[in-house]
Amino acid sequence: MDHFEFRDGVLHVEDVPLPAIAAAVGTPVYIYSAATLRRHAQVFREGLTGVERKHLAYAIKANPNVAVLRVLANEGYGADVVSAGEMRRALAAGIPAADIVFSGVGKTRAELAAALDEGIGQFNLELEEEGVVLAALAAERGMRAPATLRVNPDVDAGTHAKISTGRKENKFGVPIDQAPAMFDRLAGLPGLDLRGVACHIGSQLFDLAPLEAAYQRIGRLVADLRGAGHTITHVDLGGGLGVPYKSGDMPPSPADYGAMVARVTQGWDAELMFEPGRVIAGNAGVLLTEIVWVKPGVVHPYVIVDAAMNDLARPALYDAWHDFVAVTPTGERMTANIAGPVCESGDTFAMGRDIDAVKGGDLAVFRTAGAYGATMASTYNSRALVPEVLVDGDRFAVVADRIAAETILAAERVPEWLSA
Ligand code: LLP
Repeated sequence: MDHFEFRDGVLHVEDVPLPAIAAAVGTPVYIYSAATLRRHAQVFREGLTGVERKHLAYAIKANPNVAVLRVLANEGYGADVVSAGEMRRALAAGIPAADIVFSGVGKTRAELAAALDEGIGQFNLELEEEGVVLAALAAERGMRAPATLRVNPDVDAGTHAKISTGRKENKFGVPIDQAPAMFDRLAGLPGLDLRGVACHIGSQLFDLAPLEAAYQRIGRLVADLRGAGHTITHVDLGGGLGVPYKSGDMPPSPADYGAMVARVTQGWDAELMFEPGRVIAGNAGVLLTEIVWVKPGVVHPYVIVDAAMNDLARPALYDAWHDFVAVTPTGERMTANIAGPVCESGDTFAMGRDIDAVKGGDLAVFRTAGAYGATMASTYNSRALVPEVLVDGDRFAVVADRIAAETILAAERVPEWLSA
């Protein structure tokens, strides 16, 4: 459920009509609903009622806007971060360091050191050498770094190849069969409190079976590790729950997911950690755009919008579907291609799609743009960096400025030797 609905024929986000935001901020612009974020955070938590001890760490990469993080911090969420930059955001939003989990396959020594200095709650190790380095950095500081070993359970999550992470050929985690020996070697290091294992098999998952298979393997690993004398207190089960992008999409609900987790993890006697991203933020955001032209095409007309692949990369990168909805629909329909102004044929949001009839100057939204939207934006074609707005009831605020092409130009310079 979300808080995007039509009132008197005009699309609203909570109590704010979208034309009001377009008038105040311009387009393109990402718009998030605080009520939807809160609701998703609550629904995910409620889904896990059957899990006694849990830690919820919102995967910041999905939507790292600091205002979004504050909304989720207020819901009691910690954070899953994958860079020092994300860690700084989590801290800036008021998420306690102890509630932050540091994941990521390429954490640098500087990032590990900075995270130790902040007192980050847990490091999810991606390779043995990282554990050795982290232990040394912690020992230098007179600390023991709380850590888990991320294992790759070798299951096919059945999602897009570019967002699948749990197959043995993916770059993530250590092969599950090698985990016990690595655990033995790392657990003895004085600078490390190696307290558990972690896994994450992919994103936008529509089937619980691969998750269940992965968790069962993790359960067997935990038993083996305990059998070898290790103390396992924490198991990080990652994120990945899918969301509906178009009508008819039926991802498993957080309640279905939670029931599966409760069943599979029964008797594990560990704190379970979760890293949901998309399921919290995806349907809490839209990308508002203005139609620039409707250009006649050979097969279908091209609706050229002022948002482009640099603002919303998912269709170009993953052939992803985002519903396109007119802000003031007339009831008429048209079949059209939807494309942005960037000079690449890949800058196409949809081909031959049945959509609300629109004309130049109309407003429309791409839905389900709250996750992996603004955060993946670039300034390609010297376009401005897209701004973000948070709606909360009848209030709205710009929570990230549009960064003008001129501002970006101002950070560049021609070296002196080229000037003469
Ligand atoms: N934990 C780890 C270790 C992850 O790598 C990810 C996502 C998550 C949690 C959160 O997964 P979620 O609950 O959001 O599915 N840009 C792609 C998605 C990349 C996901 C990367 N990892 C997209 O737009 O579909």
